[in-house]
Amino acid sequence: MPAFTATAPAKIILFGEHAVVYGQPAIAVPVSKVQTRVMVSATPLAKPGEVRLQSPLVGLDTTLPQLDPAHPLAKTIAALLEHLKIARLPACSIRISSNIPVAAGMGSGAAVTVAMLRALSAFLGHPLADETVSALAFEVEKVHHGTPSGIDNTVITYRRGVYFVKGQPIQFLTTPRAFTILIADTGTPSPTSITVGEVRKAWQTEPARYENIFERIGQIVHQARKSIENGAIKPLGRLMDENHSQLQELGVSSPKLDQLVEVARRNGALGAKLSGGGRGGNLIALVESDQEELAASALREAGAVNVIATQVGI
Ligand code: MEV
Repeated sequence: MPAFTATAPAKIILFGEHAVVYGQPAIAVPVSKVQTRVMVSATPLAKPGEVRLQSPLVGLDTTLPQLDPAHPLAKTIAALLEHLKIARLPACSIRISSNIPVAAGMGSGAAVTVAMLRALSAFLGHPLADETVSALAFEVEKVHHGTPSGIDNTVITYRRGVYFVKGQPIQFLTTPRAFTILIADTGTPSPTSITVGEVRKAWQTEPARYENIFERIGQIVHQARKSIENGAIKPLGRLMDENHSQLQELGVSSPKLDQLVEVARRNGALGAKLSGGGRGGNLIALVESDQEELAASALREAGAVNVIATQVGI
């Protein structure tokens, strides 16, 4: 019997993280240079119904009954079986591999879920439509993140840039001019659920102040959309800088993020900001192609553990 394989890309938020959880728009794009791959193969010699799960990257090698039912992988399988009205999986082996940095704001959790839903549904003979993959992945995202906006599962499922507003139909973005961003990892893991929870607490304490910041971020995202759609790339740099200031106001930056953002700006970037949950994880910098190497090496020298250059064609 053949193996069923599916891949899913990472994602990066260009504008609007956190405020998107409160109904403001955000812009995010897929990053295909890093991917998660899930391979499902039948194991006819195993005991009936034995499901083996392996993810060498996180040292996971177990069977389904041994996995905590609250684990995102168990939740993914349960959500799929419920949707397909299938009582249990036939004996199989599920192998997950990924080079997406974990807890770095690149949607590693959503990528595993999406690739797993696709590979398993194909293995079961019921490949799912994108809409269903995204909806099921959103349910699993709630296990990772508590109150996710839904932007990660959307971008990763559709592999396209989006202008995303929670609960509204998806709006895909196009641009007449591709542009380059650097994605630089601070090397400090920072689970999104923690920063999202902290912003929620702060908002509950001072709703007016935080809603003001969310609205200002929403305006920046709106302007960024216009620039991207008109192919006006330079203004995006200033908008990234403004978005970063608002994220500092929200309390989700960190000294390391601020330092690396400054390094990028001083070394040819048109603008830079943290991306994703914040506190650690990644920052992004907008660069023109002749400045890409200068900014990337400056970021590495200043302590970024990994720098990826990606073309945003949307
Ligand atoms: C996570 O990639 C982005 C946040 O806005 C959370 C979310 O949208 O669910 C921080």
